[in-house]
Amino acid sequence: MTFDGSVGLKDGLAFIYRNMMGRDGVTEKMLEDFLPVMADASVALQKIFETGFAKAHLSKDGTPEHVFFPRQAYLKEGNPNDEASLRRLEEMGEAWRNNVDAAVFIGIGGSYLGDKVLFDLAAKPYWNQLPKAARDGRPQIYFAGNNVDGVATAGLMAQLTCQARHVKRPLHIMLVPISKSGTTMEPLSGFSALLVYMQQHPELFRVDVTAVTGLDPESSLLYRLAQENGWPALSIPEGIGGRYCVLSNPGLLMGAVLGYDIRALLEGAREMAECCLHAAPDGNPALVNAALKYLASKKKGAHIEVFMGYGDQLQSLGAWYVQLLAESLGKRNNRAGEPVYYGRTPVVATGTTDMHSMTQQHQDGRRDKVIQFLEVEEPAVHLSVRNPFPDEKALDLYAGKKMDTLLKAALTANEMALTGDGRLNARYVLPALEPRYAGQLFMFLMFSVAYEGEMADVDAFDQPGVEAYKRIMKANLAK
Ligand code: PA5
Repeated sequence: MTFDGSVGLKDGLAFIYRNMMGRDGVTEKMLEDFLPVMADASVALQKIFETGFAKAHLSKDGTPEHVFFPRQAYLKEGNPNDEASLRRLEEMGEAWRNNVDAAVFIGIGGSYLGDKVLFDLAAKPYWNQLPKAARDGRPQIYFAGNNVDGVATAGLMAQLTCQARHVKRPLHIMLVPISKSGTTMEPLSGFSALLVYMQQHPELFRVDVTAVTGLDPESSLLYRLAQENGWPALSIPEGIGGRYCVLSNPGLLMGAVLGYDIRALLEGAREMAECCLHAAPDGNPALVNAALKYLASKKKGAHIEVFMGYGDQLQSLGAWYVQLLAESLGKRNNRAGEPVYYGRTPVVATGTTDMHSMTQQHQDGRRDKVIQFLEVEEPAVHLSVRNPFPDEKALDLYAGKKMDTLLKAALTANEMALTGDGRLNARYVLPALEPRYAGQLFMFLMFSVAYEGEMADVDAFDQPGVEAYKRIMKANLAK
């Protein structure tokens, strides 16, 4: 095996990990000694893919539950996506175009975070302020239900009300409540408040609903409501947990509504899944990533992982990854029920923004972190800096340079400064922020945490810790 500092797909994502290794980091010897564990993790993921079951994984009711996240990439009847489900999404996206003025996506956690990433990838900046033609007839997109916040919800009502008054006709609004369980407090309360408000103001709004939920009327209140009210409902299938669902209906709907190439997204995910399932350990980026992060946690005290994407568009991806890492690996017990208190605290940072705040801590604070950079090689837009004040020589340092050149210079400088002080860091590189590469990245990150769950012997697919507060809250609310 050769762990030579970088691994990736021939055309696509690269994981550059040389700054995780060496005297201050993970040694080649540590990785070689770890190969048997990596091999077991590989077998475990192949088994998950083939059988749909992960060792010792149970649903929150204590019953066996499938794990289908890798299958999202494979269009096939019985899998989370198939040809018919994709066609339905694409048809829906086309039907809303030039017809729906605004779609309000109402979800929280896994039912929000992936949608926000896809929105940021698919929509141009300032999307909602653009004229309809510049949006190619696609709806404005709003989010709600990502908190229980009356001020934010009332603010959204006020914003849509102003718009309707401005155009002097009822706005066609599509409410999209998304909740796998169909019972979550935040989306249900936000949805209910918005629906009632809009129904009470027919002069301002023509409101429709498309629900995305588990299609079980026994357990999903949202699905029951959809059936009773004749709303279309898209499924969040069993076996697709919230934080792993971005490549199925909840995430793909956002893509389809915005005219994003969801087939290319899944194609990229499939390329990565193939590699993660079949490559040798040193050619498997997710397996190497998991091994390095696991060894850095265990042997180098790296208990914090900073996900630092360079560029504003990558911030929501960081938030998505925070959930993926925290809920998958932050576990009290191992799969035998023994206490292990595993996990790394995830932190989102944005380059260059947070180089003016958090980088001080990364560079000089406790040596308990891995800084994980994300770089996009080719930006969608090249914008050059000009010097409007030729007498000001200081501005010549930047003048004539492209903004992405400056962004990369900042990333490289940050990386060099950390490495120079023996601080662990690594780089994910995407050739461009295109659907196919985004699909590779999502699948890579999901496989990475799944592999690390195997290495740490924790269930990467449950989240028992969030039940503790829910029990208390529900009992308190019922008083
Ligand atoms: O990952 C998870 O399971 C959670 O973050 C859920 O996505 C979140 O709690 C929302 O749940 P639901 O989709 O059932 O409303």
